Amino acid sequence: MRKLILTAASLLLASFAFAQPYIITQSDKDRAAEIVSRMTLDEKIALISGKDDGFHTAAIPRLGIPSVRMADGPQGVRNNTYSTYYPCGIGLAASFDRDVAKGVGNGIGLDATARGVRIMLCPGVNIYRSPLCGRNFEYYGEDPFLTSEIALNYIQGIQQHRVMATIKHFALNNQEYQRHRVGSVADERTLNEIYFPAFRKAVEQGDVAAVMTSYNPVNEVHAAENAWLIKDNLRAWGFDGIVMSDWKSTYTTLGVLTSGLDLEMPENFTTKVEMVKPLIENGVVPEANLDLMCQHILQAFIAFGLLDLPAKDESIPEDYEYSRNMAYNAAVEAPVLLTNNGLLPLKKGRIVVLGPNANTVAYGGGSGRMDPIPGRNITPYAGLKALGKKYDVQFIESVDFTSAEKKAIQKADAVIVVAGFNYKTELENHDRTYRLPDGQNELIAAASALNKNTVVIINSGGEVDITPFKDNVAAIIMAWYGGQEGGRALADIISGKVSPSGRLPFTFWGSEDKNPAAKYYHADTAAIHRSSKSRPEYPHSTYKEGLFVGYRGAEKFGVEPMFPFGYGLSYSSFAYSGGTVVPTADGCEIVLTVSNTGKVDAMETVQVYVAPQNPSVIRPAYELKGFDKKMIAKGKSVEFCIPLSYQDFSYYDVASRSWKVDAGDYKILVGSSSSDIKISLDYTVR
Ligand code: BGC
Repeated sequence: MRKLILTAASLLLASFAFAQPYIITQSDKDRAAEIVSRMTLDEKIALISGKDDGFHTAAIPRLGIPSVRMADGPQGVRNNTYSTYYPCGIGLAASFDRDVAKGVGNGIGLDATARGVRIMLCPGVNIYRSPLCGRNFEYYGEDPFLTSEIALNYIQGIQQHRVMATIKHFALNNQEYQRHRVGSVADERTLNEIYFPAFRKAVEQGDVAAVMTSYNPVNEVHAAENAWLIKDNLRAWGFDGIVMSDWKSTYTTLGVLTSGLDLEMPENFTTKVEMVKPLIENGVVPEANLDLMCQHILQAFIAFGLLDLPAKDESIPEDYEYSRNMAYNAAVEAPVLLTNNGLLPLKKGRIVVLGPNANTVAYGGGSGRMDPIPGRNITPYAGLKALGKKYDVQFIESVDFTSAEKKAIQKADAVIVVAGFNYKTELENHDRTYRLPDGQNELIAAASALNKNTVVIINSGGEVDITPFKDNVAAIIMAWYGGQEGGRALADIISGKVSPSGRLPFTFWGSEDKNPAAKYYHADTAAIHRSSKSRPEYPHSTYKEGLFVGYRGAEKFGVEPMFPFGYGLSYSSFAYSGGTVVPTADGCEIVLTVSNTGKVDAMETVQVYVAPQNPSVIRPAYELKGFDKKMIAKGKSVEFCIPLSYQDFSYYDVASRSWKVDAGDYKILVGSSSSDIKISLDYTVR
């Protein structure tokens, strides 16, 4: 079944692959400048803020400028519509599959086009610094390279449908606790090596059309009003699209008009005519600033055909088969099998399903939550039910087991507890608990006491405390938020129709304290609450762990995580052989062979880490710089060729504000996780 879907989908994908990329050209700029030259001051002021429902830009009919509709992602098209619901961001990252990311982007681009939405407020690429951040589910994990690659493909997918993608939240929005107030403080090298790369790649290689700033102050200045952030960094990378504020994150008219921001959202809190005009008329702010804001907005609109073509494409169905297939493809590659005592896959038998997320489709909350198309959501219970005659599937709603329930659990061949968070417990503007929500550990304990063949499925945006039950259950699957096809995908994995292939896009520490960022994440905030003489209004989160986020920190501080970055079990096994470094014009290519030595067809993800041997500055011991994922039939071997560019050996030199590569020796570590290194190769940069 999966093969059929992939075939149909890849045919469609192939037809999209030739679409013209929408990029801002010189002629778009010239046309925008000509329009700006004809705009009145009032019209310019009108164009630089959101209108109506807060998800539209202003129309200026006299000049042929339409009101452009926007909608949140990242899991589908939100705002005043039902839409295909795709797996969440952390799931896309866990797939380690660029085609999956591009496929979801494609699907979202089509869904947006079908609804006349031309600006999608996604992807979200803030780095996973702590499992507590309430929005990790929307993002792509702890590694800047993985995040960049997933984001790049997702953006390319969306933008080839003449829909603008908006990469967000620039920058350092790594916690949701007091997100308007907590000042994120990080040094420039850390920013450039860990927190900026996804934005930068999206600009330099993805021609992303829009960037959304974050709520928090970045090194003391709120992001939307932070000229250093926007002009000295983002624009310096060549970004000439739209910089918009996050919703209600602006404070001063002067700040907004001078920071490099173009569009205040969702409305004109600081850019009302009576606020802007005096500053222009009194010469405090040059009108050229306003012109530039309008120029950026219009040149992006022009590049995406928004002044010339209808917003809506009536030929694309709102409930599109292609989109549904993309949702499935992502959902089936996202789950990570953390533990398995051999119970999975379940080829047949009596299954009892229970838990708060068993007969519902769990979502993360906030602006990332959306309304799925009625009838399309497949719950885990429904997915298992649909497996067919070999299974007898029963759902138990109650958590206080009656004797009849107890008996059903005892007699089952497997008990599947679907636990985790939902839109009320994991969402923006809040951080979440490390423990599973109330009563869930107890429920798992009760089920596993009755039946040792208990499988725990966890919906979450990241690590949770599994220590209360890890050793008492047969298997644990991190299922993230799987979208409308998540239930079907889980059933296909549980039954063995598909071997699990997701990998952890973050380090699973196994305890809150092991994470090197943990002690800086909240502690500083609390301290500053008590006394901050310098800026009493802002608590701070100081990124003292610096570059050593996630696996970089595990190595640096000698902390052994419970499960390493890049880890995930399969139903098959793989052998790596060969391994050569082939020089290329821009670096090298790592060539190796992977054989499926197990009994089932399965996908394997090969990860390539670069380890400088004698760095001239302090650097992480190794960093992910390449990966690829391929289906390998049982008994067969497949060649992987993973490119590394010169840039992949570089570090950020703060003094020269540029990237530098040390000549000398490097190890290239090839493995199936950050700890499971199968091949180590030598490479010398001359
Ligand atoms: C979120 C943004 C979102 C916006 C509009 C804000 O609260 O931080 O990510 O795009 O709302 O819904």
